[in-house]
Amino acid sequence: MTTAVGPKTRRRIMAGIRASGRLHVGHWLGALQTFVELTRDNDCYYEIADLHALTTNFARSGEIADSVRDIALGFLAAGLDPQRCTIFVQSRVPEISELAVLFSMITPVSWLERVPSYKDQIAALGSEIATHGFLGYPVLQTVDIIAFRGQAVPVGQDQLPHLELCREIVRRFNHLYGDVLTEPEAVLSQAPAVPGTDGRKMSKSYNNSILLSDSAAETTAKVKEMFTDPTKIRKNDPGHPEICPVFFFQEIFNARNAPDIAHRCRTGQLGCVEDKADMAVHLNAGLAALRERRRELESKMDYVDEVLANGTRRARETAAHTLAEVRAAMKL
Ligand code: TRP
Repeated sequence: MTTAVGPKTRRRIMAGIRASGRLHVGHWLGALQTFVELTRDNDCYYEIADLHALTTNFARSGEIADSVRDIALGFLAAGLDPQRCTIFVQSRVPEISELAVLFSMITPVSWLERVPSYKDQIAALGSEIATHGFLGYPVLQTVDIIAFRGQAVPVGQDQLPHLELCREIVRRFNHLYGDVLTEPEAVLSQAPAVPGTDGRKMSKSYNNSILLSDSAAETTAKVKEMFTDPTKIRKNDPGHPEICPVFFFQEIFNARNAPDIAHRCRTGQLGCVEDKADMAVHLNAGLAALRERRRELESKMDYVDEVLANGTRRARETAAHTLAEVRAAMKL
């Protein structure tokens, strides 16, 4: 059920990013670059999922607005052209919330309880987050996709269970009320998982991220603290670049020199301190254009707000259409 990027026919793409923190380099490499590429030959809807942020951050809901703003800036700075895709804010499309109530009626609780992230997240974040809304996270995501008739959904590995559940809910709807909805397909990201400064997957919840909003100096300081091969203690110790997060970034942002860096690391000619300083320079160079555009956009927030308002208007039209069809199929 998964396909690689590169559709031959124009398709409706739907994807979202949860507004629960600022965008980092992992988002850029793993999602934003694909989002931009997909706009070339497809009809794309890109959502800033602030309701999904509420599922775990309801007690700090005041922080969501900063994240919404940061994601809007990141989308545009990464090169998404609002003339070629629809960028919108989830909670400003009330049709999504209405559809979520309707779809919650047909989704068995047992299906939701068996989603791996449900128990994992409660174990990680505490039982306070075990709310009705959090259990319903995949129902809301299903609605996001079907509201816009999403045919293909670019996601990372971690989202595959949500996509599988979405397809099951769609099948159940069609079985109950007639063939109204299309099952979406997952487009699995080909990008490798991006490591954070501590070597674990880069993630807001691990506090190990290099943010798109960080300055070059902040980035350099973070890289300086980065984990490397733990068996390479002194400069002359032989290193293992294949397990080193610093080398991961060298391969992407300094590809030409990566083979030589790997060789000098393995043979104990290159120390981690020098390697990090060099990598930070190349990482900052790779992010410079995006950060420059982000800074320019920050001084034009009226324009950014207008992009969101226009996108949200278009998104509402599409979602209203789906809602009418869903209500009709359910004979409401
Ligand atoms: N759950 C997704 C994530 O955490 C975010 C998301 C919300 C999403 N709605 C979506 C992804 C719709 C794809 C389609 O990454």
